[in-house]
Amino acid sequence: MNDHSLKPFLAMEVLAKAKQLEKEGHNICHLEVGEPAHSPAPNVIKAMHEALPNPQTYTHAKGVEELRASLCDFYREQHSVEINKNNIIITMGSSAGFTLAFLSGFKKGARIALTRPGYPAYLNILNGLGFEVEEIGLNAKNKWRLSANDIEKAYKKRPFDGLLFASPANPTGASISAHEFKKIVATCKRLGVRFISDEIYNGLDFTQNSLSALEFDNDLIVVNSFSKYFCMTGYRIGWLVLPDNLVRKTEMLAQNMFISAPSLSQVGAIAALKEREYYQEKKQSYLQNRDILTKGLVELGFKNVLSADGAFYTYVDVSNLTNDSFEFCQKLLQEAKVGATPGADFDRIDGNKYVRFSFAGKRSVIKEALKRMAEFLIRPKSIL
Ligand SMILES: Cc1ncc(COP(=O)(O)O)c(C=O)c1O
Repeated sequence: MNDHSLKPFLAMEVLAKAKQLEKEGHNICHLEVGEPAHSPAPNVIKAMHEALPNPQTYTHAKGVEELRASLCDFYREQHSVEINKNNIIITMGSSAGFTLAFLSGFKKGARIALTRPGYPAYLNILNGLGFEVEEIGLNAKNKWRLSANDIEKAYKKRPFDGLLFASPANPTGASISAHEFKKIVATCKRLGVRFISDEIYNGLDFTQNSLSALEFDNDLIVVNSFSKYFCMTGYRIGWLVLPDNLVRKTEMLAQNMFISAPSLSQVGAIAALKEREYYQEKKQSYLQNRDILTKGLVELGFKNVLSADGAFYTYVDVSNLTNDSFEFCQKLLQEAKVGATPGADFDRIDGNKYVRFSFAGKRSVIKEALKRMAEFLIRPKSIL
């Protein structure tokens, strides 16, 4: 029986420990959290700065109309799909979007499938809300990519009511092709499985144009956020795109649970959507970071180091160095002053063999981290 109990988010725990070491005067290379090193575009800051003296009151629970209309333009321009602004709800990051989507889209006790490895909050939120979880195991041999066939096989073993899936994915950086995405959406529809697409890394694809599930069907839920591509993690702003029959129910839940998303952040989000050039430049810098980190990790002897398709993570096999990646990460932080996230965060079965490194930070920090890891790995006492 898989353990689905509430667990700490280890990336945040490593970060807290790293911050403590910084307070004590140590210099830390942060490769543990998925936070862009860049600020939002200057025009985003300017727009918020100008709005600040005005009263920041609650907005409509679905978000301000201008932002929802701007998101319709975004879908038209980036994905050639027409979305009605009434189907969009602005949320406090995708984290609030998940809660709304789960409560709105499923009956009490429904079973939702997730990939393993996957973003840890999925499991913890579902578990906290009283849903059941079914995990679909992925592997490095298939480049951590989910297939329609995997879904079909898992469903035959034990049916589920929903599937929550991200492409590009955290922690693996895996993206799927348009062909497979279409098959996955069609397979879910045929099986009567509600599809929830976490598109938070949309815009951060290195091998193809980013896809939205809305290109293939509109009877599904899309969760997205300004946190990653738009470099606005702390602003807590995201959105949902919902099918017609879930809009009103989700709106009522949003009214009661959150009242509205932060008004100032909605001003910033409207400005962010106009700053494509700035954000495309940042994406190029992650691509360069990815190449430096991937090459460096291969040279250091880590196993199964794949070049991420998207997002800003690489998920590597450390089983030749340790049988406990949590302990390995603790030593790496304590001795080499490099933060990395243990795989147990993302996979409660095989995660002990893996570590996630983020390349969202500054290039100089990634280079320094590689140097420090080279020294750490040649010290025999460090190897568990
Ligand atoms: C896959 C994925 N989804 C959702 C989130 C949550 O993002 P936010 O609530 O900032 O939008 C994260 C954060 O790292 C993530 O990696």
